[in-house]
Amino acid sequence: MANHQLTALHSPERRELILRAAVRDGLLDPENAQLAGFLDLDAVAATVDSLHRAFPGSVEVLHAFAAKANSLVPVLARLRDLGMGCEVASPGEFAQALAAGFQPAQIVFDSPAKTRRELAQALELGVAVNVDNWQELARIDELLTTRPTRSRIGVRVNPQTGAGAIGAMSTATATSKFGIAPADDGNTERLVEAFRDRPWLTWLHCHVGSQGCPLDLMAQGVAATVALARKINSELGRRQVVGLDIGGGLPVNFADDLATSGYQEYVERLRAHAPDLFSGEFQLVTEFGRSVLAKNGFTAAYVEYTKTSGGRAIAITFAGVQVATRTVFAPDSWPIRVTAHDATGAAKHGEAVEQDVAGPACFAGDLVAEARPLPMLEPGDLVALLDTGAYYTSTPFSYNSLLEPAVHGATVAADGTVRFATLRRAQTVADLLGRTGG
Ligand SMILES: Cc1ncc(COP(=O)(O)O)c(C=O)c1O
Repeated sequence: MANHQLTALHSPERRELILRAAVRDGLLDPENAQLAGFLDLDAVAATVDSLHRAFPGSVEVLHAFAAKANSLVPVLARLRDLGMGCEVASPGEFAQALAAGFQPAQIVFDSPAKTRRELAQALELGVAVNVDNWQELARIDELLTTRPTRSRIGVRVNPQTGAGAIGAMSTATATSKFGIAPADDGNTERLVEAFRDRPWLTWLHCHVGSQGCPLDLMAQGVAATVALARKINSELGRRQVVGLDIGGGLPVNFADDLATSGYQEYVERLRAHAPDLFSGEFQLVTEFGRSVLAKNGFTAAYVEYTKTSGGRAIAITFAGVQVATRTVFAPDSWPIRVTAHDATGAAKHGEAVEQDVAGPACFAGDLVAEARPLPMLEPGDLVALLDTGAYYTSTPFSYNSLLEPAVHGATVAADGTVRFATLRRAQTVADLLGRTGG
């Protein structure tokens, strides 16, 4: 799918179409559904298509969606239908991937804290495992003495290429908690020996980081991993490392509707830094999450009240920390765009006035935008939080017992008809009481 088509899919007009249809269909309602997430399923399909096209057809590659980015089972099932695999990093995500119908061979199990039981289950099913550390490797040694496995097993390495703009998203720093750092004292030699002793160890994995990491930094980490694979193979005199899992991490542009860096551009950077990646010597796995979904989703909420306080204009809405957790707690790292709409979902026009867009939670910092120039918001209006298809509505935070909103998938027919499918029903008070011992 060409970039201009993707951009058209990420347009104010298209979001407005979906929003108006949602109001018309009662998916947004001032009394019964004050907050909801939306995922544009046509745009998701176009994004996945662009990912498949970006990688050369001559290389065997499994694009495993990082379930942490949006672990709703119907979303995972759609991504499976679109030809993706699934990367999981907890027993919950593991179960969600299986429930979404992924075959074990399409699932990759990461996480720095896998228990014996989880590892045994993965090995029994034949799910790929990326070993995080020496102790986990010893655990796998033990488990394999009693059971053969079809799992492909790799080691996660930390290429220590450094941090991007967001420290918490940078997984390849000198002291990162993830993987084994080959450059640390004696580790390269130890890795070579570990592969020599274990013919079943056949993959290397790295994930340099997520949002905030420049493409060149990510590609440098991959290049270091390719070099290590070649070193292992040449020292062992056999082609033991047959595959490389290069992780995810393509940064997303939260500033406007343009897809500033795409998969094609990343593949070009990979070719420049790590040409051997595409030599055909290695099978590949990728683990993109945010870049697959973020720009294809938005969150809509009603404005309940507006006020001024000390001269500051504030709109109190139903979208706050429970659905925009990162933005509320770390607004400088995770700024998001907000658009203003009237009660029908139509875009509001008029003079832009600086105002804060607040959530419903009981702490002063529950703000999704501060001093944001927007047409003056009034009670009964709607706001849309853009680019929230990954790591936002799908990953709610249960502070104040705020209920998890519904998430709806939308498709738009050529004649502009919008159809919705439920991706997650809204949590009810009864669900909440059940979860909290009521
Ligand atoms: C091991 C691993 N793979 C993939 C991802 C997905 O990254 P992103 O959503 O930035 O593509 C993450 C994110 O934390 C990760 O830790």
